[in-house]
Amino acid sequence: MSSHQSAKANSLDSFWMPFTANRQFKQTPRMFVAADRMHYTTSEGNQVLDATSGLWCVNAGHRRPKIVEAVARQVEELDYAPAFQMGHPKAFELAARLVNLAPDGIDYAFFTNSGSESVETALKMALAYHRVKGNGERFRLIGRERGYHGVNFGGISVGGIVSNRKMFGTLLTGVDHMRHTHDLEKNAYSRNEPEHGAELADDLERIASLHDPSTIAAVIVEPVAGSTGVLPPPIGYLKRLRKICDKHGILLIFDEVITGFGRLGTPFAADYFGVTPDIMVTAKGLTNGIIPMGAVLVKSEIHDAFMNGPEHLIEFMHGYTYSGNPVASAAGIATLDTYEEDGLLTRGAELAEYWADAVFSLKGLPHVIDLRTMGLIGAIELEPIAGEPTKRAFTAFLQAYDKGLLIRTTGDIIALSPPLIIEKGEIDFIFDTLRGILKNLD
Ligand SMILES: Cc1ncc(COP(=O)(O)O)c(C=O)c1O
Repeated sequence: MSSHQSAKANSLDSFWMPFTANRQFKQTPRMFVAADRMHYTTSEGNQVLDATSGLWCVNAGHRRPKIVEAVARQVEELDYAPAFQMGHPKAFELAARLVNLAPDGIDYAFFTNSGSESVETALKMALAYHRVKGNGERFRLIGRERGYHGVNFGGISVGGIVSNRKMFGTLLTGVDHMRHTHDLEKNAYSRNEPEHGAELADDLERIASLHDPSTIAAVIVEPVAGSTGVLPPPIGYLKRLRKICDKHGILLIFDEVITGFGRLGTPFAADYFGVTPDIMVTAKGLTNGIIPMGAVLVKSEIHDAFMNGPEHLIEFMHGYTYSGNPVASAAGIATLDTYEEDGLLTRGAELAEYWADAVFSLKGLPHVIDLRTMGLIGAIELEPIAGEPTKRAFTAFLQAYDKGLLIRTTGDIIALSPPLIIEKGEIDFIFDTLRGILKNLD
């Protein structure tokens, strides 16, 4: 190896990090080298409480023995099996477990490797469903302003986060967006669902009449918008959306990538809101973050529409090399076992009030302009520094890290989503630490 090569091997230069301020990071790196349950260990040996479940995925806490052992066993036993025209038992077992957990009427699971891939799969499924039913004129996809549906082309087309879209050309055609539901004037400091704004669902009606409802294939929303800064839906909003979809034969897709697997104190947001979508997009908590995996859960009616024609033909021309990968499937099964054994899919409901009280204890601190909660999700919206958006929250993030707390920021909003195993004392630590930071933040 030349001296140039060995110098390179030891530097941080080569890794172009995702969704990261690369230059800032490489000047003052923040490295995790180990994790256990609620905490990370940094390369300096410090403990950091994980108030974000990694990236909303480690719902059962880190390095849970049952999941770790299942993965290790699976690697020894069957490392990989082709995903196309071949099978292995664990993918079937996990699919059955998932549809059992999902709301009634959702009977099939299609595996992917991430939330973004689940979104693309759901959008393609919706378009193809109408086509196999003889309704190919339904080609439009409707999303919502401020929606986040991953980073692939379909996802950013229906997504509504401007900074994630503006660099990438024309995106998908035939896409329109409903208005977002954030209304600080009417709804600031709402606990759970805000009171005002159910009528914003009627935007779908407006868009439907603009384009002709019979041209619309599907509408996709996050039941609780996460990445844009945690926006719970107004009371009645999702039910109204369901009604309008039913009226016009439009498929309703819930992107449950962050709301799935107990985040709201129910298995899925669909359960919390009493609204069953036609297609549910999942990932993240499905394997507790240990191995990448996503799943698209669908109603029988959609699956069955594809099951015609000669039986030797592939019904849906879609899939990934790692769809239902054996190691990911083993991780998924052990994750569901862990959630069940520890009662984690409903633990968020037990802690929700304590959590919400803790979030609302920050009311009145400098720069705080809104607080939002739902299940074990919290958001603290800060007034941006004039001319320097995102800087105030990012400074809070850096200070929190130095004080042993991992938070996430999006714009000037701090978003919290701790592992569902969190104890009350750890909730106190999060908010005592944040209180100390916010009191003195410029
Ligand atoms: C609602 C939602 N959809 C999709 C995604 C994309 O998931 P992934 O990063 O696994 O592709 C995310 C990620 O945060 C998400 O929050």
